Amino acid sequence: MSIDMLTIPAQCVTESRIQELDYNNIEFGKIFSDHMFVVDYKDGAWQNPQIMPYGPMSLNPATSALHYGQAIFEGMKAYRDANGDILMFRPVDNLNRLNISAERMCMPALPEDLFMQGLEQLLRLDAAWVPPTSGCALYLRPFMFATDDFIGVRPSATYRFIIFSCPVGAYYGQALKVAIEPQFVRSAEGGAGYAKAAGNYGAALLPARKMQDKGYHQLIWTDAKEHKYIEESGTMNVMFVIDGKLITPPVSTTILKGITRDSVLTLARELGYTVEERKVAITELVEAHKAGKLQEAFGTGTAATIAQIATIHYDGTDMDLPAVEGREISNRLATELDKIKTGQAPDPLNWVQRI
Ligand code: COI
Repeated sequence: MSIDMLTIPAQCVTESRIQELDYNNIEFGKIFSDHMFVVDYKDGAWQNPQIMPYGPMSLNPATSALHYGQAIFEGMKAYRDANGDILMFRPVDNLNRLNISAERMCMPALPEDLFMQGLEQLLRLDAAWVPPTSGCALYLRPFMFATDDFIGVRPSATYRFIIFSCPVGAYYGQALKVAIEPQFVRSAEGGAGYAKAAGNYGAALLPARKMQDKGYHQLIWTDAKEHKYIEESGTMNVMFVIDGKLITPPVSTTILKGITRDSVLTLARELGYTVEERKVAITELVEAHKAGKLQEAFGTGTAATIAQIATIHYDGTDMDLPAVEGREISNRLATELDKIKTGQAPDPLNWVQRI
């Protein structure tokens, strides 16, 4: 099928569910917009792209994604500007990362035209679902999973790719208490930590639950070899301000290459802050905290945006950080990034795509 010739039939809902939405009180991930974009892969090609009402799908019990985990996903957001236009933030970067995850999980790549056409048509149809409220966005969830009806461990020959969306507010409602994980690992060199694979999240649930039982919202992963170096946090990359410098672990095969991470680092450099992408030892954080130099800590992610960290627990001690209101660097970066995403500031790197 030539992508140039592609038309996406839109099967529309007869009655929108948008009245269920209270724009001033949006809970993350609970309410879904009216439509979804669906395309299937078979006989070596993506076929039959469609927009249809959001709703249940029927799957066979032998659907291979359910058994062997060939399932990958993305998170991205669309915003509304002051004129009511819809702006997508760095969608092609999400597609590129999806295709990196696809390669690692032995799944087919998705062509850019198909992704962008599906996304744009979906957003046009569900435009009313993009919240006008500050701090809110339409979260888009592109994902792909293996659909072969087959019990045997081999890559599936068929796949389904879907994008659905949900209006969202903040993912974390407060500054977080996090704990450095001393035992479990998220990812090891040679593994699939850099892929946004469903299984990476599934395997993280038990360690996260154990930390939550001890009173922490999230954990911070450490390296698989020695548990000495910081990797990333539960749903986000992690950054620190130590003695005025913005410091974050470098992306690697074990750390997800966050798009918000990249946006924050790029913006910080442009604003003249010193940025260091390098290994961060736990001992460095402990020493910096003792010396009063651990000034800020925060997570970055599409869902989390910039999520402030209030407390970091390590080895029996809670390290409390300075109050969030006084955090110059992360608060400034959050404000500036928000302005770009919502069309209130120049966008020299063309991160924003207008529908
Ligand atoms: C995102 O930040 O969009 C993510 O995918 C993290 C999440 C699992 C909510």
